[in-house]
Amino acid sequence: MLKIDILTLFPKMFDGFLSESIIKRAIEKGSVEVNIINFRDYTLDPHGKVDDTPYGGGSGMVLTPQPIFDAVESLKGENTKVILLTPSGYPYKQRQAYELAKEKHIILICGHYEGFDERIKSIVDLEVSIGDYVLTGGEIPSMVIADSIIRLLDGVIDYESHMNDSFNNNLLDYPTYTKPREFRGMKVPDVLLNGNHEEINKYRHEEQLKITKERRPDLLEK
Ligand code: 6GU
Repeated sequence: MLKIDILTLFPKMFDGFLSESIIKRAIEKGSVEVNIINFRDYTLDPHGKVDDTPYGGGSGMVLTPQPIFDAVESLKGENTKVILLTPSGYPYKQRQAYELAKEKHIILICGHYEGFDERIKSIVDLEVSIGDYVLTGGEIPSMVIADSIIRLLDGVIDYESHMNDSFNNNLLDYPTYTKPREFRGMKVPDVLLNGNHEEINKYRHEEQLKITKERRPDLLEK
């Protein structure tokens, strides 16, 4: 079973994530254990401080190393992967979700405010970013990473439904339709109604190439 420990200063942000839908079911089934840990509980500062002003000047507050070091050291085992969420991390990709789904224990460290003391990176195996935009903290990114891993764990969703995921073959998904055959004048393509699976597969592959070429030409080059 995979264990994911998430270090954050805002544990309540995770309530909805853990208590609904597929993630909730995965936890109930025992496919994954998720612990939300407030690293403020580890600070040795008498006033509960976890951050301070940056050396050299500049705006904002910087997370101090001590609470995060102590939290990680108390949680870490022999086979733990420690991941720091930061906008300057390596871009997170579906390929890594597959790699991380094979791990036994993952610690995700969420920052808030302006950043981390650089020395925190000495206890981290991997720094990741979820995209080219800036968020207020690592909480939403850590939910993104956890979600992308949990859905790949055995028995969480059926194998077929992630075999066809966008990105698996560097192609975006083909369009899908359900009933009715016609809705407000928009018709389901005939090819999907004729039961010829060879033709259907050909149509779907062409649609994948078309949408990928238009929206993500960078994926086609791979
Ligand atoms: Cl991991 N953190 C923050 N704060 N912003 C981000 C991000 C991470 N990835 C993209 N933007």
